Amino acid sequence: MPATRSPRTSPRTSPHASPNSTAGHVKREESEELPDSTGWSASLYNKTASFVYSSPFVAPVLDLLNAQPGEKILDVGCGSAEVSLDIQRVVSQQSGGVVVGMDASESMIVKAKGNGLKHAFVCDAHDLIVPDEIYAWIGNGSDARFDAAFSNATLHWCKRDPLAVLQGVKSVLKPEGRFVAEMGGFMNCIGVRSALYAAVRSRGYDPALYDPWYFPSMEDYVKLLVTGGFEPTHMSLTPRITPLPAGLFEWLRLFARNSFLRIFDDAEAAKIMEEVVENCRVDCQDAGGNWAMTYMRLRFSAVLKK
Ligand SMILES: C[S@@+](CC[C@H](N)C(=O)[O-])C[C@H]1O[C@@H](n2cnc3c(N)ncnc32)[C@H](O)[C@@H]1O
Repeated sequence: MPATRSPRTSPRTSPHASPNSTAGHVKREESEELPDSTGWSASLYNKTASFVYSSPFVAPVLDLLNAQPGEKILDVGCGSAEVSLDIQRVVSQQSGGVVVGMDASESMIVKAKGNGLKHAFVCDAHDLIVPDEIYAWIGNGSDARFDAAFSNATLHWCKRDPLAVLQGVKSVLKPEGRFVAEMGGFMNCIGVRSALYAAVRSRGYDPALYDPWYFPSMEDYVKLLVTGGFEPTHMSLTPRITPLPAGLFEWLRLFARNSFLRIFDDAEAAKIMEEVVENCRVDCQDAGGNWAMTYMRLRFSAVLKK
């Protein structure tokens, strides 16, 4: 078997599991909406990973953001907008205060609007452009730019060009505007990620080509912020044991099936996920059968340099 080989199907043409597959555990529940063209399904996200936006988990990054009444804030990768709406409650205490959400996934933006976020648009963070109609809604002239950009659990999905993401954020901020975010950092998902690498490699593919995640160290991200024209004002990397209420297989189905494992058909993807579950069981499942993973949270704030 060659060390690397071409994908069986192009990720562009066949990135997703068939929703009706009966292979392994891949069978979709009736209530579960199909993933959209980006591979995300808001209903599956809400069902499997509501811990991502749970109050205890987002409190540190919201404290760092320290949103003020009247501020205009852009939420980069807002998902279904639970966190955006928390921020919205603060900024809307004064006139002019608004949170705008953006996300690459249409499924997420539809859900975000359904959840009550008024201003939200579909956009890839690598090519961030705020539509004119959004600027028209939020103000005029230089006031139309944002006091702050915020992001939770999204930037590690932006692996193609992390600097382009920062440049996009820079372009929508007021002078001295701030960027505050939390993302997966160095050693995030340790064990599970290497089990995925081993499973994909053993099938003859180079896992680095399909790994969707960018987990930088603090040093790497400081350098990137400075290159992008920001001055870091806070940077931390914090381990967090993250319980997986739906188990590791469901975590993989949500976060890896349509990205890392996009080149595999349903049957093979299910086999890989089962293999990863078995290999990680020793580290990630307690005696009571509860699953957890080690997340490493990279949290930062930075201001636009003058
Ligand atoms: C784990 S969810 C986090 C969502 C939300 N921030 C929250 O805290 O619940 C990651 C989000 O990143 C979005 N995303 C992934 N890649 C993206 C990209 N290149 N541009 C914009 N959004 C992206 C996904 O669509 C998804 O909504």
